[in-house]
Amino acid sequence: MQIIRHPAAMIAWAKEQAKAGRSIALVPTMGFFHEGHLSLMRRAGQLADQVAVSLFVNPTQFGPQEDLSAYPRNFERDRAMAESAGVQALFAPEAADMYPAEFCTTVTVGAELTGQLCGASRPGHFAGVATVVCKLFQIVRPDVAVFGEKDFQQLAVIRRMTADLNLGVEIVAHPTVREADGLALSSRNTYLAPSQREAALSLSRAITLARKMTAEGERSAERLAAALRDFIHSFPETAVDYISFVHQNTLQHAAEIDEQTVLALAVKIGGKVRLIDNGKVL
Ligand code: PAJ
Repeated sequence: MQIIRHPAAMIAWAKEQAKAGRSIALVPTMGFFHEGHLSLMRRAGQLADQVAVSLFVNPTQFGPQEDLSAYPRNFERDRAMAESAGVQALFAPEAADMYPAEFCTTVTVGAELTGQLCGASRPGHFAGVATVVCKLFQIVRPDVAVFGEKDFQQLAVIRRMTADLNLGVEIVAHPTVREADGLALSSRNTYLAPSQREAALSLSRAITLARKMTAEGERSAERLAAALRDFIHSFPETAVDYISFVHQNTLQHAAEIDEQTVLALAVKIGGKVRLIDNGKVL
């Protein structure tokens, strides 16, 4: 596996692959790999001749009060894990090379997709994500890119950007990888104190509860959300950021649950660790 630090060197690598007629699958990440990231990499290996993974803790998608400096990092561990997942190129640039002093361009996806859910509590977050992913697509020129359904709004935003800007990259969604007890894997789970692990389970358990209620006939988003809020707050140290039922593609609020509806949740644990999860409930 090649480790590539500079955008210009990554562009050269990608051009070499294209010249040799090899297709490229890209998996964008911020590192601190877990089984979720690795399953995206293995999926990418089935989709193209070469797998490129980007590892970049993108400063522009973190708010001023967020965890940019605390975000977990371990390059040596990540390097070994990516290699074991069959990755050919690990692109790990410096922030100064991605965003030189004169950098002044931002890709903004409309409020229809970015004004609600995580976009409401993290202003500027999706502009940071869209801009960096657009840059990564231009640097790597992948045929296909793999993203996790875990970050459900991010996936919708990237699909929209890719279509709107004719970026010519096929976007593949990969299902959320979970612990045996249901907790969605996340680099941010490392922030959880052992005593908060149970509270973190409130998200996936809430999705299970919603499925049980819809199986029993409940279709009102308002009543479901109220029941889920009480359920989540019955776990210690939890504070709901949002519980939303939205259309899977448009992300518009759904008053009545149907097969197109996704339940999306964000919960703060212990006032600091913000976890997200989502799932269909019918
Ligand atoms: P990061 O949080 O590192 O996630 C990288 C990719 O892994 C994303 O597509 C995310 O949805 C996926 N992922 C995370 N946890 C997962 C899980 N439990 N199961 C399946 N997939 C999972 O998302 C980002 O980085 C950044 O915003 C990025 C797109 C790289 C832009 O900076």
